[in-house]
Amino acid sequence: MPESPRKFFVTTALPYANGPFHIGHVMEYIQADIWVRYQRMRGHEMHFVGADDTHGAPIMLQAEKEGITPKALVARIAATRPRVLDGFGISFDHWHSTDSPENVELSQDIYTRLKARGLIGSRAVEQFYDPVKAMFLPDRYVKGTCPVCGTKDQYGDACENCSSTYNATELIDPYSTLTGAKPELRTSEHLFFRLSDPEVANYLKRWTAEPSAGQALQPEVRNKVKEWLVDGELADWDISRDAPYFGIPIPDAPGKYFYVWLDAPIGYLASLKAHLAKTGTDFSTFLQDPALEQYHFIGKDIVYFHTLFWPAMLAFAGKPYRAPTNVYVHGFITFLNEKMSKSRGTGISPVTYLDLGLDPEWFRYYIATKLSDRVEDLDFNPDDFVARVNSDLVGKFVNIASRAATFITRHFNGELSLRAPDHAHFKERAGSTTVAWASRPLIEEAYAAREFGKVVREVMRVADRVNERFDAEKPWELARRDDAESRARLQDVCTDALNAFRALAYYLAPIAPSLATRATDLFNVPPNLLWDDIENVADRINPYTHLMTRVEAAKVDALIGVAAAAAAPAVATSAARPAAKAATTPAPAKDTPMEQTSPSTITIDDFAKVDLRIAKIVAAEHVDGADKLIKLTLDVGEAQPRTVFAGIKSAYKPEDLVGRLTPMVANLAPRKMKFGLSEGMVLAASGDGPGIFLLAPDTGAAPGMKVK
Ligand code: MSP
Ligand code: ZN
Repeated sequence: MPESPRKFFVTTALPYANGPFHIGHVMEYIQADIWVRYQRMRGHEMHFVGADDTHGAPIMLQAEKEGITPKALVARIAATRPRVLDGFGISFDHWHSTDSPENVELSQDIYTRLKARGLIGSRAVEQFYDPVKAMFLPDRYVKGTCPVCGTKDQYGDACENCSSTYNATELIDPYSTLTGAKPELRTSEHLFFRLSDPEVANYLKRWTAEPSAGQALQPEVRNKVKEWLVDGELADWDISRDAPYFGIPIPDAPGKYFYVWLDAPIGYLASLKAHLAKTGTDFSTFLQDPALEQYHFIGKDIVYFHTLFWPAMLAFAGKPYRAPTNVYVHGFITFLNEKMSKSRGTGISPVTYLDLGLDPEWFRYYIATKLSDRVEDLDFNPDDFVARVNSDLVGKFVNIASRAATFITRHFNGELSLRAPDHAHFKERAGSTTVAWASRPLIEEAYAAREFGKVVREVMRVADRVNERFDAEKPWELARRDDAESRARLQDVCTDALNAFRALAYYLAPIAPSLATRATDLFNVPPNLLWDDIENVADRINPYTHLMTRVEAAKVDALIGVAAAAAAPAVATSAARPAAKAATTPAPAKDTPMEQTSPSTITIDDFAKVDLRIAKIVAAEHVDGADKLIKLTLDVGEAQPRTVFAGIKSAYKPEDLVGRLTPMVANLAPRKMKFGLSEGMVLAASGDGPGIFLLAPDTGAAPGMKVK
């Protein structure tokens, strides 16, 4: 049943670039990726893109704390993305950044069009201002005493003690969390997107009722949106922020920037544009194709932005822009039914998962078993994880091939029975292949509707039946008999099981693509499986090779043990690694002579000879004639700055280094180089692959501090 080809533009939410991916991001990518891979298998045209969400006050302030530029911070985080995306088999066609020329152009264009339509207003806003820092303070950077219950140190929006909500300006004895200064109330002119305009409100009522022909928001989403739209009234949306701000300048409004949530979703289009440019496709023509379907996969916390602001911005900006075809919302992943908390270190880290050598497709499969089209939270339960993978994926699915293929290879030299499965003999008895093929419409419907749990349940139901039928035929007894009839029957039985297995591999391919490729490799099917080939049957198989191992519970223990030990997100990667090793490396046996030091160990006194100090990079420049070196000027808390030549040119731009803190060896004998005297050494990590990674101390370190 081939469908006529469709054309898709699909995105996931853009992760904030102030930290590495957490497992919630990965869960979202897996959901979208399964759906995307299914559509690709159907032969549809797919454009699946993501990007880093880079702008806003938190990223600006974090960079400042670390003594680096926001761009350098964003670049550092961006460098961590491919490992996780590739590791979990997320098949984005392109990954971009909201801090990109495309996004500046598109954001300014959309704004200018909205303004031309009279939908941008302006109004004075009174807000707290930090006089020491010379900036307006977002609510989260103001604390004070709760005006309701009197509890000290409460945030500017709500009290953690009595749960009252209030305006930051109502706090008693407010202070800036950035400097401790008492904030002043100041006014500034802000720009607004006029969502209260009746034309906009009416449009949104229509869009949320039917985002596009035949499409509906999920019922939970629709209800939420109704509360905002029908029962309430939309307020105009404040889209400007005053300098200093890391963002996109607003045309004709000097010193003002777009609020990050204005340019973030436009980042979807910026990424699409960059992706299309790679193939010379015209962005504007592409967007205006009436056949194009545009879907956004997002979490339940950002529905407001995607069902109100975003469609309104697009619709009122006019051609070539267009509102989304639909928005697909998912719940949150929890860990043992608790919210994952980065600060408390509960949950699991995607990098640790990969570092431990756990198969990413185990996780994809597990997540799939729990996904539906509902906005429900989804729990990661380690025991359940081990059980689902070992008893279902490996125990039921992989098991079919490992048993049936062995007979075919051993007794028939790889040749399958040509009588199966089309032969009347099989049809009559509703053979396993027939059963497997009969599931196809249900599986297709489930994939299209993002009911991946249903897909998995159906595949496992069929796998159970295939295994039962196989057992009922007692192939091991047939194999012992010598008559031609038993032989033919053995070949038929195994062929039938294998053809059913082949169909199940196709069914699972969007969820576990590598496993499916290995499985269909048995039948000599080239990778990039096509849905329409499900019912092609082979006449022989390749020798069976191991398809997938079972999860070792010990590794999962290491994963969650590490999760409990890992601290803040920014250090999770580096902190998790040694702990992960510790958890898997057996402790030395009792009788190991620990005191005996091998030549490669040093004593604490040896280490103390190295004078490690925190240095601040106050200047950095290229060195004429040196292709590896950057000349650094370092403040080490001494009267005079030091000069160090560092071999990091391949990894850093000088301008990105200025302001950073890094440890240095301060008592290394000065070395005369062709370019001048080098008075120390900065520390960086590197491995077998490309990349040099300068070390950075935690927040709070200052130039001259000793590292010990
Ligand atoms: N930067 C914004 C999105 C801008 S989209 C134009 C943002 N970033 S985020 O990093 O906080 O979240 C990115 C996505 O991850 C969101 O869809 C969010 O719902 C999702 N998740 C965050 N925590 C999650 C879980 N624990 N579980 C599942 N998804 C989660 O919001
Ligand atoms: Zn209170």
